Amino acid sequence: STVKNATLLFLGRAVVRAQALLGDPAARLLGLSPSRDPYPVYESVRGRGVLVPTRMGLYLTASHELCSRLLRDPGFGPLPAGALSPVDASVQVDGRRLVNPVEESFLVRNPPDHTRLRRLVAPWFTPRGLRDRTATVERVVEEYLDEVADRPTFDLVGDFAARVPIQVIADLLGVPGADHAAFARWGSALVNALDGVRDLREMRALQAALREFEAFLDDLIAHRRRHPGGDDVVSALAAHDDLSREDLIATTELLLVAGFETTVNLIGNAVLEVLGHPGVRERLLADPGYADAVVEETLRHDPPVQYTVRVPFESTEVAGTRLPKGTPVMLMLAAANRDPAVFADPHRFDPDRADVREHLAFSSGIHYCLGAGLARMEGAAALRGLFRRFPDLKAAGRVHRRPSRVIRGADRLPVSTGVKKHH
Ligand code: HEM
Repeated sequence: STVKNATLLFLGRAVVRAQALLGDPAARLLGLSPSRDPYPVYESVRGRGVLVPTRMGLYLTASHELCSRLLRDPGFGPLPAGALSPVDASVQVDGRRLVNPVEESFLVRNPPDHTRLRRLVAPWFTPRGLRDRTATVERVVEEYLDEVADRPTFDLVGDFAARVPIQVIADLLGVPGADHAAFARWGSALVNALDGVRDLREMRALQAALREFEAFLDDLIAHRRRHPGGDDVVSALAAHDDLSREDLIATTELLLVAGFETTVNLIGNAVLEVLGHPGVRERLLADPGYADAVVEETLRHDPPVQYTVRVPFESTEVAGTRLPKGTPVMLMLAAANRDPAVFADPHRFDPDRADVREHLAFSSGIHYCLGAGLARMEGAAALRGLFRRFPDLKAAGRVHRRPSRVIRGADRLPVSTGVKKHH
C-alpha cells in the first residue's frame, strides 16, 4: 500500500543518509570489519595526527585530550536529527509517523530540551536507587545461573549476559514479566540499526520492531494513566501532562536501546578478559570485590561503545583545522582509552592501574551516560556471581563477534562450566 511504501521510503532515506555519513563508508575507509581487531586500525589513525580528515568530509580523532574536550565543549553537540534522517512529519503510518528512538531522544538533543528530558528520568539513577537495586540484580544473576547450572556448556551471551540487563531495564520501566521476550527482541532490533541497515529485509524487520514497540508502549502508557501511582519510569512520565507522546516514547525507547546491549557486551567483554588473564581470575576468586576493578578496566580496554560523533554548531577551529558548521567529527572513544598520553602501557589489561577512571567509555560532558552506575553495578554483580558459581569456567568454542562497529562484543560465546557431573 501507499502507506507502507511511504514508510519504507522514510526509513530508507534515513538509512542511506546514516550510512553516507557514518556507517559503512567510514568503516570501509578505516578498514573496520567485525572479523577484524579494530585496535590496530585505531593506532593507525592515532599515527596520522590529532584530527584526521577523510575523503568524505568526516574527521576522526583517537586523541583522549581532543575527545574529552569536544565532548565538554558547549559549542559542539551530537549529530542533529536531520543529519541522519529527515524526521518528516508528512510521512504517516496509520495516521501517525514512527518515532525515531535514537534521533528524537535526549541522547542527541541539545539544551534546553536535553536538560528537561534528562531531568525527568534522572531520579531512577541516583546512588541511593542503585543501592536499592543491587540485591535484586544479584538475585536475577543467581536465577539465570541456576538455569544453566545443570549443563556442561552454555552460551555465555544468550543464556546469561543478555538476560540480566533486560530484566533490570524492564523492571525500571515497569514492563510486565510476560512481555520481557518481546522487549528484548525490540531492543536488539533497534540497537542493530545503529550500524545502518544493509537491505530491504533488515529495513522491514526494523520497521516492524518499531511499530510493535510503539503500539506496546501506547498500551502501557494508557494502562499507567488509568492506574496511576506506580514507581516505575513509564508511570512517572505518563503522569506529566505536558510531555508529548513522541518525547515519552523516545525517552522510554532510549532507556532500552542505551541500557540493554551495551551492558550485555560489558559482561561479555569482561568475561573474555578474565578468561584470557589467569592472574585476574585468581584475584577475582580470592576476592569477589575485585570484580569492580575488572569491570572498570574492561570499560577502558575493550568498551562496548566504540565511538560517538560531535558536530560544531558554528564554524570553528580545532587542532589547527577550520571546521565548517555541522562538520562531523568521529570521536573514537575506544582509541582514546588507549592513548599513551594518558594511560601507561595502554594495550595491557591491568585492573590495578590507578588512572583507569579517566576512560571515556561512558562519554563525557552533558551526555555522560546516565546509566553508568547501573551498568557498573550489573557488570560487577554478573562477574562475581558467574565466577563464584563456576570458578573453572572455560571458553568452549569459537567466539562469534557481533556484526557491528559501534557496539563491540560477542553475540555468541560458548563456555563450559568445568563442573563434573556426579551420577
Ligand atoms: C549515554 C555508554 C549503559 C542510559 C551514553 C553514552 C555512552 C554510553 C558512550 C553517550 C554517547 C554520546 O556522548 O554520544 C554506555 C555503556 C553502557 C551503558 C558502555 C554499559 C556498559 C547504560 C544503561 C543505561 C544507559 C544501563 C540505562 C538503563 C544512557 C542514557 C544516555 C546514555 C539515557 C543518554 C545520556 C544523555 O544524552 O544525556 N551511554 N551506556 N546506559 N546512556 Fe549509556
